[in-house]
Amino acid sequence: MLTVEDLLWVVWYAALAATIVAGFGLLLLHLLRSRSVATQLLVVGAATVLATLSGIVVISLMMMLSEHDRTVALSVVTAAGLVAMAVSFLLGRRLVAANRALVDAVRRDPFVPPDVRLPAELAELSRELGAAYERLAAGHEREQALEASRRELVAWVSHDLRTPLAGLRAMAEALEDGVVADPGTVHDYHGRIRTEVDRLTEMVDDLFELSRIHAGALRLSRRKVGLDDLVAEAVSGTEPLARAKRITLHGDVRAGLPVQVDTAELGRALRNLVVNAIRHTPDDGTIEIIGEIRDGEALVTVADACGGIPEQDLPRVFEVAFRGEAARTPGGGAGLGLAIARGIVEAHAGDIGVSNAGPGCRFVVRLPLNA
Ligand SMILES: Nc1ncnc2c1ncn2[C@@H]1O[C@H](COP(=O)(O)OP(=O)(O)O)[C@@H](O)[C@H]1O
Ligand SMILES: [Mg+2]
Repeated sequence: MLTVEDLLWVVWYAALAATIVAGFGLLLLHLLRSRSVATQLLVVGAATVLATLSGIVVISLMMMLSEHDRTVALSVVTAAGLVAMAVSFLLGRRLVAANRALVDAVRRDPFVPPDVRLPAELAELSRELGAAYERLAAGHEREQALEASRRELVAWVSHDLRTPLAGLRAMAEALEDGVVADPGTVHDYHGRIRTEVDRLTEMVDDLFELSRIHAGALRLSRRKVGLDDLVAEAVSGTEPLARAKRITLHGDVRAGLPVQVDTAELGRALRNLVVNAIRHTPDDGTIEIIGEIRDGEALVTVADACGGIPEQDLPRVFEVAFRGEAARTPGGGAGLGLAIARGIVEAHAGDIGVSNAGPGCRFVVRLPLNA
């Protein structure tokens, strides 16, 4: 009969033997830590079987097992151990296969999550890889769009800046050589040179602003300002231009909550919108500039009487250097105004859109109030 004391001794020695074997197992696992999980699982399986076997050997050395019992126990444990090792080998292979499927998916471009059933950890890794890939693709797309608009800008500079310069040079040469000499024409040339220089100065200024926007170097110095003040400023700044065409600027602000914006930059964006509206509205027309607060946003709407923008041009008006066909006339703008307005509004975490409405088109600037 086995006494409690004997049983405790059995447990003690078996545990001791198992611990020694497990110690070697852990050491081996440490040495193999950068090897395949399949190998490591095999080591775990082997260590478990050996630990059990060592326990049986030790207690049989303590004469607590008959030779017959020992043989039976060893055979049972060996058989069970072999089966356990086979199972861990299979599990290891499945892990290796799942991992390979994931690696193959990552190597393919674009990344498509493997449609095999993955263990939870690998499935999570696969999801995270998918998300990372999407972020990467979006970044790449942004980069390409930026690159395209940079190329456009370079093309723009070489064309739109050179043409007036060539004209200026021709006029200056004509004056210098005395080709034009009658006082009327000379006066006219001087006037045209001045106008062209003013226009070029404005273009260079716009170009500088746009390059700051593109470089992400637009540092906003926000301050609290009433929406009504912003609108009033856009109206008063463009009044002379409107008066020259007898256009009525109608500024209207419903609920003049204060907004946190860079007044100089946002003022510039609004001015660009109003100047466009004036340019495209026929003489004696009316332009409405409406400020309002709606759904936690500040909205500024500029509605003109331009007769509508062609449907296919609507999504393109904010592109750098885009000018509608009718606007491609000498003396017109350079096609940077709306790109600048959009850049400034987006720097304020807002957005800007356009639609045709009523007798003309309607530009809407939306700014989040809690920015
Ligand atoms: N208020 C408007 N009414 C009609 N068309 C407009 C208006 N604003 C802009 N557009 C169209 O969008 C184009 C781009 O505008 P913008 O970027 O300000 O460049 P620019 O004024 O120098 O032509 C204009 O050339 C014009 O075709
Ligand atoms: Mg413009």
